[in-house]
Amino acid sequence: MQSKNIRSHKFSNIHYRVAGEGDVIVLIHGFPLDGTIWEQVVQGLSKKYKVIVPDLPGSGDSVNDISDLTVEDMAESVHLVLDNEGVSEAVLAGHSMGGYVALAFAELYPNRLRGIVMVHSTAVADTEDKKVQRKKVISLIEKGGKESFIRQMIPNLFSGTNSKMLYLNSTVELALKTPPASIIAFYNAMINRPDRRSKLNNNDLAVAWVIGEDDLIIPKNSIIQQTTLTNVNFVYVYKDCGHMSMMEKSGALAHDLDEFLIYCNADK
Ligand code: MLT
Repeated sequence: MQSKNIRSHKFSNIHYRVAGEGDVIVLIHGFPLDGTIWEQVVQGLSKKYKVIVPDLPGSGDSVNDISDLTVEDMAESVHLVLDNEGVSEAVLAGHSMGGYVALAFAELYPNRLRGIVMVHSTAVADTEDKKVQRKKVISLIEKGGKESFIRQMIPNLFSGTNSKMLYLNSTVELALKTPPASIIAFYNAMINRPDRRSKLNNNDLAVAWVIGEDDLIIPKNSIIQQTTLTNVNFVYVYKDCGHMSMMEKSGALAHDLDEFLIYCNADK
């Protein structure tokens, strides 16, 4: 993969990776990880597509001072990457927080989209309880509790002992690289994000939903009603899968993204 960096008035550094040629898919990672989580999926898709994988500002190699961040800011960073690559239209696949970014992108730049994939993600805003829970985490992080938070949260991302054995340690290591200030900024961005169901309702944007049967973070039952909001919906439900299909079911995910990409690019 080729590594690139750009900057803007808002972001001192946006790092992203590119592989392959063809119609474009952008893979947006979730919290508190970075673009490297998509590695296995990129291998499959880059044989046929141009795959762009940003590190969201404050994650991975996108080192930034981001005390004040919104999901719309993150969408802007993805938009800057597309401009830099000369890409007029793409499919965006967002994992969890990355899905919140993809929905913000859909609102801000609808003409740049061929479709979006909500990978273990939701259009619903945080409940009041969830906001309180996030605020408790923010004060824990402010008191130096990043490591204990990460070590407690990451095991919940995976289904069953098999996935945990394969991916837990490397994912904990990856999450530990995220600076405390970024974790706080991402949590505030998620607390402040709006409910975007009404934007999806009766919209002609093609949306694919990737759901893990065993996802504890965004449970299947919390998403399933949203999957019929738009006029064009693809729904993929994976057994023995938690919140991390790009690792736990990477072959199936690459296959299903290919199917969705074929649909989205058919009238080109
Ligand atoms: C994520 O995986 O990006 C986050 O857990 C999403 C969230 O906390 O809402």
